[in-house]
Amino acid sequence: MRLLPALALLLAALPALAVPGPRQTQIRPGELWEDANGNHINAHGGGFLLHEGRVWWFGEHKVPGEAGNQAWVGVHCYSSPADDLVNWRDEGIALRVSDDPASDIAAGCILERPKVIYNAKTRKFVMWFHLELKGQGYGAARSGVAVADSVVGPYTFLRSGRINPGRPAQNAPAPGDPNAKHYFRDLPGGQMARDMTLFVDDDGTAYHIYASEENATLQIAELDDTYTQHTGRYWRAFPGRFMEAPALFKKDGKYYFIGSGCTGWAPNAARSAVAPAVIGPWTELGNPARGPNAEKTHFSQSTYALPIPGKPGQVIFCADRWNPKNQIDSRYIWLPIEWKDGKPILNWKPAWSPAAL
Ligand code: GAL
Repeated sequence: MRLLPALALLLAALPALAVPGPRQTQIRPGELWEDANGNHINAHGGGFLLHEGRVWWFGEHKVPGEAGNQAWVGVHCYSSPADDLVNWRDEGIALRVSDDPASDIAAGCILERPKVIYNAKTRKFVMWFHLELKGQGYGAARSGVAVADSVVGPYTFLRSGRINPGRPAQNAPAPGDPNAKHYFRDLPGGQMARDMTLFVDDDGTAYHIYASEENATLQIAELDDTYTQHTGRYWRAFPGRFMEAPALFKKDGKYYFIGSGCTGWAPNAARSAVAPAVIGPWTELGNPARGPNAEKTHFSQSTYALPIPGKPGQVIFCADRWNPKNQIDSRYIWLPIEWKDGKPILNWKPAWSPAAL
């Protein structure tokens, strides 16, 4: 009998174990999505990494209210068995913002769209993210990088900055090109980088893809063999098309892009494109969303294209339905990427299961 109070005490001390959420069988886009502890998953603008039989989800940890538009905690990590992707375990905070007000990642900065890749050569996990310095709105337009020895971290912040100062693009525009004004302005100090993703090609070359040039043009920059630096080689894509929220995947030897237009937190019509190589040339394929609310991409904005492990060719469109008044309540819109006439399409599904694809 005396065991019971002891057990109760133990459970109270371990709330995570005390209230296990129910096992879920389906993804329900737009609904509250509980982790294994019964808490709404807090990993927005997320990115994913397949590692040792699990998929690891990294995203922005949001706090309640409008304060959720800045970073007060850091990057939250969750994991799920690779053949599940519906039930997620809380793995804690992978990268913490700093208490030091002089740090680039001081609490109150804007730290968005973290993405993690694994470097087999250095055996490090490398995280890149969009960083805005505290108190400067979206003016800094930097990228930050952090590394860790273990997938869950803790990640050590290395540095932040603009991209490839003094280096011209491989497909450099002609002087006077009306779509290259900001490219030329930023050449000496480095190119701007806001919304971003990472993509590792089959040969192990990693690319950093980001909204640049005041968001008017995407750039695709090659990373070095440690994945922690740019090599100086980069390409401009979709000049003057104002695309952001980039997500990339490869299927049947072709590279596909899904992104959004540029309307802040408000959803707009998604964009898609295809290319024979990551660096382009990219050909636009139009808005992939179909059906009611296609013009608003089912009220969502892309963050990642997640290949389903063990199901070649099956890719999940992972997106955010933002709530800028209370970002902790932002929802996840995950839909399977379907195909029509050789183009990726996104049909609304109120509930679906990756395992059933
Ligand atoms: C969106 C962007 C978000 C965030 C927001 C701020 O366009 O995709 O990641 O930066 O703007 O308004």
